[in-house]
Amino acid sequence: MRFGTIGAGAVAQAIARHLVSAGHEVTLSNSRGPDTLLDVVAGLGPSARAGTVEEAAAADVVFLAVPWPLVGDALAGLSSWDGRILVDTTNSGFAPPAVEDLGVRTSSEYVARLAPGARVVKAFNTLYAQYIAAEPRHAEGRQLLFYAGDDTTAKTAFHEVFDGIGFAAVDAGGLREGGLLMQVGSVLSALHALKLDGDRS
Ligand SMILES: NC(=O)c1ccc[n+]([C@@H]2O[C@H](COP(=O)([O-])OP(=O)(O)OC[C@H]3O[C@@H](n4cnc5c(N)ncnc54)[C@H](OP(=O)(O)O)[C@@H]3O)[C@@H](O)[C@H]2O)c1
Repeated sequence: MRFGTIGAGAVAQAIARHLVSAGHEVTLSNSRGPDTLLDVVAGLGPSARAGTVEEAAAADVVFLAVPWPLVGDALAGLSSWDGRILVDTTNSGFAPPAVEDLGVRTSSEYVARLAPGARVVKAFNTLYAQYIAAEPRHAEGRQLLFYAGDDTTAKTAFHEVFDGIGFAAVDAGGLREGGLLMQVGSVLSALHALKLDGDRS
């Protein structure tokens, strides 16, 4: 399975580092071009590379990790998703465009609308970047990682990758109901908690 990131900042690098450590290939991209990411990918390891947004978006699993106001720019021109998985890590917060003005209830529904054919999974937005970057396995248990989406197969693939990396991945439901729980200010937002060892729930 190949991975790509649209955006190469704090969140994308934290996710990419875990994936590279687990032996996966990751292509990182930004708006300024691959040449601006050579130091970043060199620091991540040999299976990380810099690419264009189009190259990153051609991966099997693509992480959208740009500031909310730039989501439209970042996805523009990527017309053919063909069922590839798009993991939306963004937080709309109070920055424009406001979701209620876009005719949707959650920001990830808006992202799905901008990426026709993509199987969208919302994840990582509830954790501060330093918690994403940290080793998810602790002496007491594993870092909870909530995700939401409407495609069961995509969610299973996401779950298996990040459970394998050491997160305690938890399905929060569909893109609408899970997204509402995961958005800024809601119950799962910034919930930095561990699933304790021995907890089978
Ligand atoms: N930081 C956190 O603690 C945290 C935690 C969870 C979720 N989030 C969410 O995750 C998203 C990313 O946050 P971040 O902290 O990683 O941001 P960041 O460090 O500012 O990185 C943003 C990245 O997006 C790139 N970018 C901007 N416009 C782009 C475009 N049109 N196409 C491709 N790449 C583009 C930027 O590179 P160039 O400007 O060079 O293109 C940069 O690499 C945000 O929506 C944020 O709300 C953040």
